[in-house]
Amino acid sequence: MRLLRVLMCCVVVAASAWAQTASSPYWANDPEVEARIDTLLKQMTLDEKVGQLITYSQGMPTGPGTGRSNYNEMVEKGRLGSIFNLTTADETNAMQKIAVERSRLHIPILFGLDIIHGFRTEFPVPLALAATWNPSLVEQTARVAAREASHSGVRWTYSPMVDVSRDARWGRIVEGAGEDPYLGAAIGAAFVRGYQGTKLSDPGSIAACTKHFVGYGASEGGRDYNSAEISVRLLRQVYLPPFEATLNAGAASFMSAFEALNGVPASANAFTLTQVLRKEWGFKGFVTSDWDSIGELIPQGVARNHAVAAGKAFLAGVDMDMESNAYEPHLAALVKAGLVPESLVDDSVRRVLRVKFALGLFEHPYADGKGASGIAPEDAELARRAAEESFVLLRNDGGLLPLKTNGSTVALIGPLADDAQQMLGSWSAKGQAKDVVTLRTALTKQLEAAQGHLIYAKGTEILTTSEKGFSDAVAAAKKSDVVVLALGEDAGLMTGEASSRAHLDLPGNQQQLLEAVAATGKPVVLLVFSGRPLVLNWAAAHVAAIMEVWFPGVQAGPAIANVLLGASAPSGRLTVSFPRAVGQEPLYYNHFNTGRPAGDDMLPVPPPNSGDKYKSRYVDEQNLPLYPFGYGLTYSSVAYSPTAVSVGNLSAKALNGGTETLTVSAEVKNTGGRAVEEVVQLYIRQVNTSVVRPVRELKGFRKIALAPGASQKVEFTIGGDELRFWNLEMKNVVEPAQLTVWVAPDSASGKPAQVSIGD
Ligand code: NOJ
Repeated sequence: MRLLRVLMCCVVVAASAWAQTASSPYWANDPEVEARIDTLLKQMTLDEKVGQLITYSQGMPTGPGTGRSNYNEMVEKGRLGSIFNLTTADETNAMQKIAVERSRLHIPILFGLDIIHGFRTEFPVPLALAATWNPSLVEQTARVAAREASHSGVRWTYSPMVDVSRDARWGRIVEGAGEDPYLGAAIGAAFVRGYQGTKLSDPGSIAACTKHFVGYGASEGGRDYNSAEISVRLLRQVYLPPFEATLNAGAASFMSAFEALNGVPASANAFTLTQVLRKEWGFKGFVTSDWDSIGELIPQGVARNHAVAAGKAFLAGVDMDMESNAYEPHLAALVKAGLVPESLVDDSVRRVLRVKFALGLFEHPYADGKGASGIAPEDAELARRAAEESFVLLRNDGGLLPLKTNGSTVALIGPLADDAQQMLGSWSAKGQAKDVVTLRTALTKQLEAAQGHLIYAKGTEILTTSEKGFSDAVAAAKKSDVVVLALGEDAGLMTGEASSRAHLDLPGNQQQLLEAVAATGKPVVLLVFSGRPLVLNWAAAHVAAIMEVWFPGVQAGPAIANVLLGASAPSGRLTVSFPRAVGQEPLYYNHFNTGRPAGDDMLPVPPPNSGDKYKSRYVDEQNLPLYPFGYGLTYSSVAYSPTAVSVGNLSAKALNGGTETLTVSAEVKNTGGRAVEEVVQLYIRQVNTSVVRPVRELKGFRKIALAPGASQKVEFTIGGDELRFWNLEMKNVVEPAQLTVWVAPDSASGKPAQVSIGD
């Protein structure tokens, strides 16, 4: 308890010293709402206040021995302000009625749910949505999810997840945008705009919850819930920006992470939660813990019991306790003991009530239950489009794709060709297998329409050692003109939370199936269904075409069939590096150069006594990924001119003052015979700086449509925002430097231009 007092002093003293910089979102700026909150706070008992700071999951045990009484009773007494995992209008309305009609102060309940890539209409998994490089499309998918959810009374989603992850072993890499902070910021902000719309009080809007604050994606060894050690510079440079972008987009809430960050649990971390989030960024929404992350301070070793854990988390800046059983029994007692000032409890309650008011819950607490019966045709259409744009063509030897259909026989083989449930991916909210159109169904139909023919053989299960189905698969391949193999991970078991992998191969005996089918000599298209990069070396050397299709959602089949048969061309690009070996992880394009960089073309084994030995490298594998960040092919060829710049010299002072910018451009030409969408990417590198900077950093991108033969000049503007970095004095400034810029199709190519940044 003495410790808590000391911590409390620090938080209060330090708070007054920090300046507030970010501007408040509209929902935090309503004097009438603030006055209504004042009135409520005056009427609330301490227990009722604590009630607003708790969220419990539906379905958890209640009653004697569980530490909590039944939810109806708690709600009626004003002691439970938020519930998650109730998903129908009947369920939420029944509980809301108790809160609004029977509790003393009639404060409505906030219902939450993990709506991660759709509510009923499941879109591609977030990593796939990011691979579209199309924030406006991502925003539209989130808008549909918000509309569907709010009809059921769910007005709060635990999304977006904006954890930058550089490690494909981590199962949760599927829930975010991948390895880059710039792209992660753009995609995270798009999710928030979609969920929250132009006004949170619109009936189709729900509150976003940006997670997991912060550093969770750097879990050591890719093991879930593991610790993360991230220097403050790296934290500010790479891990924090996507969070700040969602805050600037108006995100109403944040979730604190599980892991110990630099030795301090993220759910008891005053530096990130109070200094950065509230004081520097001026966040006006509320912070919920993750599931039991306050209780986990005990096994993490920084709290001896739930009372201490409650005090530490609360004083560090966690407003709401999700499932820890810590605030409900202990927060009021901590206040009464003088260990937690009641004014801080009032501040937290204000933040929660502010979001409830902003959502219009006081005026319209009930759900209308509309749209519960299925997926609207226009939403299915959006799901198909999003899936099509998310596929990344990794290889297309001899132009095997798109398939030539007339009269040909396609053998469709593999455990993911006809598995509706798998297509929904991890975290599928109210997604239903019956809504999914599988590849087998869609391809059969489309081939028939094109006078083609499909034969199907499952071949194997996702995870088995039995080769029972191999002979049928090989027989089907032999009878065909071309084979489409649908292989990959188990979405539920191998992707998402608690799904870290030490091996990144095709699971079970799918690699053996692939080799057996390829041995028939028939041309093979490999479709990879996965929630992370897999090691695809063998396929890259032996298979004509490879397309990464992730977990595509309810319209998986029609979307894949459209791309396979050429109704649309692939336009997805990787947002994570695909390794050659697990041992390369963590693997990311925006690494530092080191003092002994390995050449790009370096072979795995250095020639004896060659100068290549004492380099930053492996002796048994290249440093380079198999497929780099930003990479993806299409059905045409696109040529880039050398990068052009508007001036050769810039001034750091003028860039810092916002009075100077640089225009960077390239001519991008569709040199093939098909209309395509091209993701034009802008990268920079800075040297001669006070601290080392990455070999490349994404600083802009644009997805453009190019008709065959068409050419477009694509221009980017670079200013202080793109060039600033956290320097030796930990100031976020532009420094004099030598700047290289590339307008390029991916992170490993492009013809650069040079610019000097002087004083
Ligand atoms: C734990 C997960 O880490 C988090 O992402 C999720 O939102 C909560 N559980 C609630 O389900």
